[in-house]
Amino acid sequence: MKYLVIGNWKMNPNTKAEAQKIIASVKKVASQLSTTSVVMCPPYVYMSLAYGKGASLVALGAQDVAPEIQGSYTGEVSATMLRESGAAYVIVGHSERRAMGENDELISRKVARALEEGIIPVLCVGEKTRDKEGLYMEELRLQIKNSLQGIEQKHAHKIIIAYEPVWAIGAKEAMTPALIQETAIFVRKTLTDIFGQEKALKIKVLYGGSVNFRNATEIVSQGSVDGLLVGRESINPLGFKDLLIAVDEIIK
Ligand code: PGA
Repeated sequence: MKYLVIGNWKMNPNTKAEAQKIIASVKKVASQLSTTSVVMCPPYVYMSLAYGKGASLVALGAQDVAPEIQGSYTGEVSATMLRESGAAYVIVGHSERRAMGENDELISRKVARALEEGIIPVLCVGEKTRDKEGLYMEELRLQIKNSLQGIEQKHAHKIIIAYEPVWAIGAKEAMTPALIQETAIFVRKTLTDIFGQEKALKIKVLYGGSVNFRNATEIVSQGSVDGLLVGRESINPLGFKDLLIAVDEIIK
């Protein structure tokens, strides 16, 4: 598989019936793809719906994970529980969770916990704003370095980085492919500094932030990323279907 598209449902939809509709639609289109892998990250309560029939077509992911192994942590869900529920991926450090108070240190423990359990962490990073002086580059570099603090080299290739500029999430327009390409190079350079070139080359770098069926092709092909992290469009069955087909067509 060449490209990876991950759907982050966030806290949507509000009914089981709607969730079932999205799941059925994504599984159907996934069965027709040849170069694109799909991961669906519904809220915890819908994970069992997604893990049923056709689970081999679409991988399952969660939107967060506890840094602890188990115990008295009300409201938390452990990595072991996620694995037991069929999750192969977990989103870690999404900017919406960082806005609720998560810092790089906590995020690095979540990344480590996921890896210990054999779950692929999708680490989200991205600057809040862009300044002319380019200080955002340092913000991004530190975020990557600190969120991966203590991660062993041998696990590096299993990590996925989702570069999501905060200002482009939930926005009208995505970042331009040219800027995505430039920043993806910077992300890969930072990963090389941390893990060495051989390991860093194996790490997938995705883009996220206002991706839809119209802009997906140019973002993937001109932005030089390994795939996409999609929010709103991932719970729109028709739009997501077109997005997946568009990405799959790129190297057909
Ligand atoms: P969006 O969200 O596609 O709705 O902008 C992306 C994300 O937050 O992962």
